[in-house]
Amino acid sequence: MEVIIKGDYNGISKEAAAYIADFLYHKPNAVLGLATGSTPLGLYKELIRLHADEGLDFSKVITFNLDEYVGLPPSHDQSYHFFMWQNLFSHVNINPENVHIPNGMAKNVTVFCSWYEEEIEAYGGIDIQVLGIGTDGHIAFNEPASSLGSRTRLKTLTQQTIDDNARFFKNAEEVPRYAITMGVGTIMEARTCILLASGESKADTVAKAIEGPVTSMVSASALQLHPNAIFVLDEPAASALELHDYYRWVYENKPRES
Ligand code: F6R
Repeated sequence: MEVIIKGDYNGISKEAAAYIADFLYHKPNAVLGLATGSTPLGLYKELIRLHADEGLDFSKVITFNLDEYVGLPPSHDQSYHFFMWQNLFSHVNINPENVHIPNGMAKNVTVFCSWYEEEIEAYGGIDIQVLGIGTDGHIAFNEPASSLGSRTRLKTLTQQTIDDNARFFKNAEEVPRYAITMGVGTIMEARTCILLASGESKADTVAKAIEGPVTSMVSASALQLHPNAIFVLDEPAASALELHDYYRWVYENKPRES
């Protein structure tokens, strides 16, 4: 695992965007796994800037989003469809046919989830998966006790996630109780995973994910078993890490290719 600690939110957004942009310059038809929520907003803003100022090309990029609330149509302003178009896709030259987001209105969720998994495979798997982390340790909506081998499926949200996400709705009652989410097993097959975390409210969970035991109670801890997992943290989110100074030293002294 690589742990990159930046001074602030702007720093983590730029670091992740630079990594993705560099990858896209080498592989323009890359398959990106994308997350929603407040954490990746700065990353998406920076990708939009790179598109506008430096011609970063999304025309061949394929995307798969991690999750979607069940029962919210794409037109709902809190659906993850709406979020992605508002915060990224409408501002870059992505081909709408290349965008995949779980269908929260699917009539048969089980059939839909199998199809989603097959589509990811048909495109050759995910090159870079962007992740946030919930205060309960979830990645995507893999709530505590999710199988670390799980695949895309229906998941019941925990009260903690409902309360955390109530800030986007009028109140907690309006937060959907179910979501379709990629599984931990699905995420672990991405060739690179980049987890972004910002703010002190994530510090304890981040420390458990990186330095605690691998456990389904903190689904992000499964990334300890991933061959190429990168945690990009701002100082407050990194503040509970036991080896904080070591990670910083490793990053600052990383041998650079000439
Ligand atoms: C969203 C997702 C979630 C969020 C997590 C953190 O697609 O997969 O796991 O990444 O809940 O959310 P924020 O960034 O709002 O703190």
